[in-house]
Amino acid sequence: MYENIIVERPEPKIGLIRLNRPKRLNALNRALMSELAQALNEFAQDDEIVVVVLTGDERAFAAGADIGEFQGKNPVDMLKSYRFKEWEAVRTFPKPLIAAVSGWCLGGGNELAMMCDMIVASESAVFGQPEINLGIMPGAGGTQRLPRAVGKAIAMEVILADRRLTAQEALQWGLVNHVVPTELYLEKALELARQIAQKPPLALQLAKEAILKSYEMSLAEGLEYERHNFYLLFASEDKDEGVAAFLEKRKPEWKGR
Ligand code: HXC
Repeated sequence: MYENIIVERPEPKIGLIRLNRPKRLNALNRALMSELAQALNEFAQDDEIVVVVLTGDERAFAAGADIGEFQGKNPVDMLKSYRFKEWEAVRTFPKPLIAAVSGWCLGGGNELAMMCDMIVASESAVFGQPEINLGIMPGAGGTQRLPRAVGKAIAMEVILADRRLTAQEALQWGLVNHVVPTELYLEKALELARQIAQKPPLALQLAKEAILKSYEMSLAEGLEYERHNFYLLFASEDKDEGVAAFLEKRKPEWKGR
């Protein structure tokens, strides 16, 4: 059904999307991004899926936007192409989204990984924003999300001087959650997904939403937003089940309602 991605359900509750343009180091062309948006929208509406892992292959998560698509383009072409529509499906994906990154994670690839909620990296992963070498700059959130993750000084160096971060540096600077041997990066991401998949889906969704709001709101607004989501969960059957299961010393059975 898809030509540029592979969509799988490796185990109950977990969706897996593999970027699949290996000859182009998974460069993110329009066709790939549009398939990715479609797959995410389907997983978003699928009650069986609680968490999704997004990955590439061992050599590359993604080496950026497809540079070939930039040739001969002027600002009006770019504006009219409405190319960021597909990226919105990633940004607004309501369920936990884990990037499993190995090899090159550059430009739009790094921006895509940073749009995910957590990043598990292989020790061979390399993170960077090399757009400056093309006479352009990051355009899918790099100048906003990278400094929030690693701080201004490192973000400046990565974006202005094309400094590449090793997996260990990315871990040290708070860009990624885990670094594991290359042969284990996908398994580690799935292990994290498995842990999350055992949690109540509505609480996951509202907690994720509140964490993301912390980047956009003042503390007072964010606290209010959090409180509203907290109250909202008291309307869920899962809250009744979770509290009852604790008091009855048994495992809860989540319904996602
Ligand atoms: C199109 C790409 C590509 C890309 C690699 N390829 N990256 N094609 N767009 N971003 C292609 C190469 O042309 C080559 O095709 C094949 O993939 C293998 O790549 P090589 O360069 O031969 O591999 P290697 O020598 O290992 O070098 C790896 C690399 C290098 C360091 C990652 O490929 C590289 O610098 N790529 C560009 C990285 C980049 O500038 N990214 C930012 C893009 S702009 P052939 O046909 O020769 O085999 C961007 C803006 C985002 O992301 C804005 C928001 C949308």
